[in-house]
Amino acid sequence: MGNKQYKITVIRGDGIGPEIVDEAIKVLDAVSHLKGFELKYTDALLGGIAYDITGVPLPIDTITSAKNSDAVLFGAIGGYQWDNLPRELRPETGLLGLRKAMGVYANIRPVRVYNELIRASTLKEDTIRGVDLVVVRELIGGIYFGEPKGRDGDRAFNTMVYSVPEIERIAHVAFKMAMKRHKKVCSVDKANVLDSSQLWRDTVIRVSKSYPEVALTHMYVDNAAMQLIRDPKQFDVIVTCNIFGDILSDEASMLSGSIGMLPSASIGDKVGLYEPIHGSAPDIAGKGIANPLATILSASMMLKYAFNEIEASECIEWAIAQALKDGYRTKDMSQYDAKEICSTSVIGSVVANYVGKCKK
Ligand SMILES: NC(=O)c1ccc[n+]([C@@H]2O[C@H](COP(=O)([O-])OP(=O)(O)OC[C@H]3O[C@@H](n4cnc5c(N)ncnc54)[C@H](O)[C@@H]3O)[C@@H](O)[C@H]2O)c1
Repeated sequence: MGNKQYKITVIRGDGIGPEIVDEAIKVLDAVSHLKGFELKYTDALLGGIAYDITGVPLPIDTITSAKNSDAVLFGAIGGYQWDNLPRELRPETGLLGLRKAMGVYANIRPVRVYNELIRASTLKEDTIRGVDLVVVRELIGGIYFGEPKGRDGDRAFNTMVYSVPEIERIAHVAFKMAMKRHKKVCSVDKANVLDSSQLWRDTVIRVSKSYPEVALTHMYVDNAAMQLIRDPKQFDVIVTCNIFGDILSDEASMLSGSIGMLPSASIGDKVGLYEPIHGSAPDIAGKGIANPLATILSASMMLKYAFNEIEASECIEWAIAQALKDGYRTKDMSQYDAKEICSTSVIGSVVANYVGKCKK
């Protein structure tokens, strides 16, 4: 019998996207070699580069390729040169469209603090040591998609809209995740002001009845932003809507020391999308200094969630921890305890090399 084979659509995108995805592939190749499975990559276009080549930010071929693969690995999109395009041609519209087309409604963003990076955070050691939380963000509804939206002369408007089924399905993801962790869900909303948040809260409470072992709390988003910095260890699973999750998880990235450390998995109907939480970082693109670890960790999530290759996924996490322990750092996390400040490509090679030594 031949090796197991998995089909991955690879979307490098714009800015630092190609640099960080190349490193994730380097590490994936190392782990597939070690564990004896095959990865078949198909490249697809998205974002500014797709607009430049095809005239649209989300070509049909990309959707087709994504839907016909076992998983999609994605870097980032966006850049100054596309900022003045009409909204429907902007790179960000392409990404929102891909998420919608793939039906990936749940974006899972684990926030873990590596002991080796504790001093890289701007927060105090005591506050962040041992932080281990997950943000479950609703990804294809809410204000980023709601109708009506648009601009009418001197007025512009967007609509935050949620339906009960949309809230129920994301709530189930959060409660199921909590069951495998510390059995706590904090639902973040703005129910004191927004009708869509009141529906969110009512629905989450109803779903919680199916998970009696899980302790459910609620928090207004402004308080949650403060509590994440004051005492992040109080959280296990945070479930929230699209825009609040977008903002809170960037905030949470500073617990881990760098936005270049936070991966994510977007799951839903069928095929999942695996991507770092950060953007295309045009300010550092092409300089070879971007941190690829969030993308490599996203690849590790892909192995776990999409392919059930648990040992391979753990080998990547172990390899990253080893690289950090031995003092390898990219510039964004090099303020403290760095023995070697590495380029994007060097830290990718270091991690791939450790993967080869994994005994799991
Ligand atoms: N998923 C996505 O593709 C996505 C997400 C957010 C923003 N964007 C787009 O990215 C572009 C830039 O947006 P932004 O500047 O607000 O956010 P950003 O996340 O790209 O960058 C914010 C800051 O973090 C730094 N940074 C980000 N990733 C890093 C990494 N891996 N290593 C080291 N430093 C890193 C950047 O240099 C920058 O200083 C915009 O066009 C935006 O629309 C795309």
